[in-house]
Amino acid sequence: MTSPSTPLLALPELAARLRAAGCVFAEQEAALIADAARTPEELAVLVERRCAGSPLEHVLGWAKFCGLRVRVGEGVFVPRPRSEFLVREALALAGPGAVVVDLCCGSGALGAVLAAERPDLIVHAADIDAASVVCARRNLPGHPVHRGDLYDALPDELRGRIQVLVANVPYVPTHEIPLLPPEARVHEARQALDGGPDGLDLVRRVAADAGTWLAPGGRLLVEVSVRQIEAAVRIFAAGGLSCRVRTCAEWDATVVVGRQGAAGRGGSSGRSPARPAHSPDGGSITHSGPGKTSDSWPSAKRTT
Ligand SMILES: C[S@@+](CC[C@H](N)C(=O)[O-])C[C@H]1O[C@@H](n2cnc3c(N)ncnc32)[C@H](O)[C@@H]1O
Repeated sequence: MTSPSTPLLALPELAARLRAAGCVFAEQEAALIADAARTPEELAVLVERRCAGSPLEHVLGWAKFCGLRVRVGEGVFVPRPRSEFLVREALALAGPGAVVVDLCCGSGALGAVLAAERPDLIVHAADIDAASVVCARRNLPGHPVHRGDLYDALPDELRGRIQVLVANVPYVPTHEIPLLPPEARVHEARQALDGGPDGLDLVRRVAADAGTWLAPGGRLLVEVSVRQIEAAVRIFAAGGLSCRVRTCAEWDATVVVGRQGAAGRGGSSGRSPARPAHSPDGGSITHSGPGKTSDSWPSAKRTT
């Protein structure tokens, strides 16, 4: 309902305000925000929030990810376009009816895409953050979303049964947090970004215990930065996982894929240190072919 005190803002005026506040894709954002608002009052509030620096996705309440509209509550990590590569890799590795876990799920965007594209998969998700779990439950109706510290969140029945474990853990080194854009630094939880001194604290913890949760031959996939590849491969090897590295130049995305030995953690191949060049997965592989169709979503320019 239009109140006399709140005149309806025209799109060009909205765009001008957003541009003045530093929004590069002002016209596109103005149209999206206008579409999201149910009343002129709400529109004014949303524009104000965006002009004050809230991420567009938090203002709208959703992000577009792999063609899905994923709900993203305030404070919840906004899924990055580059993580589409991680999802694609996971999809390629998941056999029919596989048990798949989206660990450190945030909004549950990765799990939601896996579930949407492959209804045959048994998808679980988990996160330590209460707001993220609430959000993920809305994005993953009909799929269990657990809350807790890494594997502590998972039901025991999943031990040794996970065929694909996707863990987009925080991996920004602590000293680089101040360099992040304010949209991330101010509006996303520190816990969602900070990976410790070298950014790999959580990767270490996830890889160390992956063997007890993965099925024989199961895969662990994590996203890291290019500078972290060598260390991440060593960490996976220390966890008894053979390893390969996949990269996508178009999305500036790097995914480390670890494979549990065929005998599982109890077997001899499960605990032996991995040597990438001789691994069953064929060592390091670089994929620089066409990444994904870009939908020219504004957040595609995010760099964190
Ligand atoms: C980089 S965000 C990724 C979120 C989501 N997977 C995505 O790609 O959009 C990392 C997530 O890990 C969660 N997290 C951080 N520490 C955790 C822990 N110890 N156990 C479980 N989740 C954790 C954060 O709450 C955050 O949602």
